[in-house]
Amino acid sequence: MRKPIIVGNWKMNLDHLEATYCVQKLAWLLRDAHFDYSSCDVAVMPPFTSIRSVEVLVEADRLKIQYGAQTVSVTSQGAFTGDVSADMLAALGCKYVIVGHSERRKYHPEDDATLVDQVRAILAAGMQPILCVGESYDERKQGIELEYAVGQVNDITRDLSEEEAANMLVAYEPVWAIGTGMVATSKTAQDAAHAIRQHFATVFSAKVADSVRILYGGSVNSSNASQLMSQARDMDGFLVGGSSLDPEEFDKIVRLTQKAAKQR
Ligand code: 13P
Repeated sequence: MRKPIIVGNWKMNLDHLEATYCVQKLAWLLRDAHFDYSSCDVAVMPPFTSIRSVEVLVEADRLKIQYGAQTVSVTSQGAFTGDVSADMLAALGCKYVIVGHSERRKYHPEDDATLVDQVRAILAAGMQPILCVGESYDERKQGIELEYAVGQVNDITRDLSEEEAANMLVAYEPVWAIGTGMVATSKTAQDAAHAIRQHFATVFSAKVADSVRILYGGSVNSSNASQLMSQARDMDGFLVGGSSLDPEEFDKIVRLTQKAAKQR
């Protein structure tokens, strides 16, 4: 059985003071609701400058909330102005790093070769990559959305070992659904998650396919999380953008997702 996970991608929001408030409030809300972390993971992905504050809070209050980063350098150290290495993130207690988010692919020169190197750097530092894939509206119109998303997964993972592949998480985030309010239907999310899982079974093994957690991202909120989760059996949770910035809304999404996952 895969453990569901709800990840909040804060993008370029919440400075280190706001981050502390947000995580503390989320932790209190979940504690008051007797949230069972043993059956569901909860993680936040702050901007680099807020990670240390989250780490200090998590350690001081022994919180079970996990955290990670939104991207990483492909190199380990040296003259790379502005970059942050995987080892630096691991030293801050990061558990996950997002790779290939569509906003990174759009605004930065992150091609497939870069993404493969990022995945290797993250795994080598003992963290787990959350690989983002998903079609734009154009590919969907052409009816090639599944081939497109699975192709992106293949481009990044094909040279990994079985052990490395088993440590991946994949987030299916159709570009047209990100920040638009146009959430995918549960069938769309399930079809994509199923195709991605099948791909891992074909290229690696049934064991790898069974262990990779596949998330959906794109306009998830507390009004659509339950329905999405209860209908899409290959989906193991969400990568939430805007709705993760409000601790009360994120708390609702987390608890509704956990409940829906239990009831499937
Ligand atoms: P929204 O939830 O704001 O649509 O963003 C999704 C996303 O990009 C998460 O990585």
